[in-house]
Amino acid sequence: MPSNPSPPNPSPRVCLAIVLAAGEGTRMKSALPKVLHPVAGRSMLGHVLAGVAEAGADAVAVVVGPGRDDVAAQARALAPKAEIFAQEQRLGTAHAVLAAGEALARGCDDLLVVFADTPLITPATYKALRAALRDGAGVAVLGFEAADPSGYGRLLMENGALAAIREHKDASAAERKTTLCNAGLMALDGSRAMAFLEAIGNHNSQGEYYLTDAVAAARAAGAKTAVVIAPEAEVMGVNDRLQLAKAEAGMQQRLRDAAMMEGVTMTAPETVFLCFDTRLARDVVIEPNVFFGPGVSVGEGAVIHAASHLAGCEVGARASVGPFARLRPGAVIGEGAKIGNFVEIKASQIGAGAAVSHLTYIGDASVGAKANIGAGTITCNYDGFDKARTVIGEGAFIGSNSSLVAPLTIGEGAYVGSGSVITKDVAPGALAVARGRQIEKAGWAEGLRKARAGRTGKR
Ligand code: UD1
Ligand code: CA
Repeated sequence: MPSNPSPPNPSPRVCLAIVLAAGEGTRMKSALPKVLHPVAGRSMLGHVLAGVAEAGADAVAVVVGPGRDDVAAQARALAPKAEIFAQEQRLGTAHAVLAAGEALARGCDDLLVVFADTPLITPATYKALRAALRDGAGVAVLGFEAADPSGYGRLLMENGALAAIREHKDASAAERKTTLCNAGLMALDGSRAMAFLEAIGNHNSQGEYYLTDAVAAARAAGAKTAVVIAPEAEVMGVNDRLQLAKAEAGMQQRLRDAAMMEGVTMTAPETVFLCFDTRLARDVVIEPNVFFGPGVSVGEGAVIHAASHLAGCEVGARASVGPFARLRPGAVIGEGAKIGNFVEIKASQIGAGAAVSHLTYIGDASVGAKANIGAGTITCNYDGFDKARTVIGEGAFIGSNSSLVAPLTIGEGAYVGSGSVITKDVAPGALAVARGRQIEKAGWAEGLRKARAGRTGKR
């Protein structure tokens, strides 16, 4: 029998995140619900769901407006285990939290209440709020120093402790001088949250049930309150397209900074647009004006030259792409391959060391290692009904301005003469030429000039 048994691990705290996404978002003036607008290629709702998951939420409840099946569907797609609740009437933020009361009633240690329109909050900040609960707070509020506090709820401190939050509309002139503001999100002790929420009334200028009143309710019940401070840029909420653009700029800067800190060179970072999931290995060089859509990974030492557009593609180590290249979904570029200017590649594998250097479209194809695709080559992959594949063997050489009519296989090491329209398979090592044969008529030009003597023409 062990004489000195180690103490049991303190049980991990169970966390429920309630994501409020019931806003009408009318100021966006959009057919798309506000929280589905993308920032760096992912909806704001998606950023928030990913953030709370990374902060350790065990259960997630999303509160949507009545009839918002589109928001519910996105939430389910992004967080399959999330429960969806509808807030039938918009009676305030505390009322919205209670719409998910069924999830809360199941019990949790930490309750995180977050807004789906604040996409820049980091998982570290969610974790800091949870840590304040672990340290004994009944309610922990996220605060920030506002450059312009008007419109925000003010954090009213008493003897160094948070006493209450006063909404701007309800605040006195003296209270409005406070610049310490409420970011909106909050963490509540799961065992007492329901009691705090149920104590909240709607006696305020808007007749709403304010979540912020959980602070006063907690104090009245003798619970401790805490404030976690975050930078203003992180807590910014999106209500209109100007704020959406600001959030995008903030997210882009964060993504670029992270990439550069991981060993990526960007010669003009402010002109490079990344996606939330862009993966760039060490020693990747990104020239100016490059755009990354979702699902791109770039291997070590690859160079993406200026003005290229990449989405859903993989670029191998030490490959070179652009300038002015377009890699569309399904493009997989092998190690050391070269994709040059005005080249478009879609759903195709380009082998290691292959070169597709100028003015070319490669779609639904596989190009073997070290093959050379001449300028102006086109894979004719579409007959108006179906897409067909082109297979080009290793080391093949496709002459300039060739049309490769799929389905088609060109064998290893084969040559295709420039200007060919290739409709039949080419055997390995063979030469295929499919173009009008050149003829020459000696002295023909002189004859024409004589026949037209006396007339002036273009020379
Ligand atoms: C809220 C805070 C305020 C804080 C500010 C920060 C309250 C009462 N006030 O004010 O202290 O400074 O955020 O930006 O919390 N929502 C619902 N159902 C409702 C009402 C709101 O789901 O019935 C959702 C909204 O979609 C939004 C969030 O809750 O995502 C905040 O509501 P909003 O009306 O924008 O609150 P603010 O006035 O901005
Ligand atoms: Ca708001």
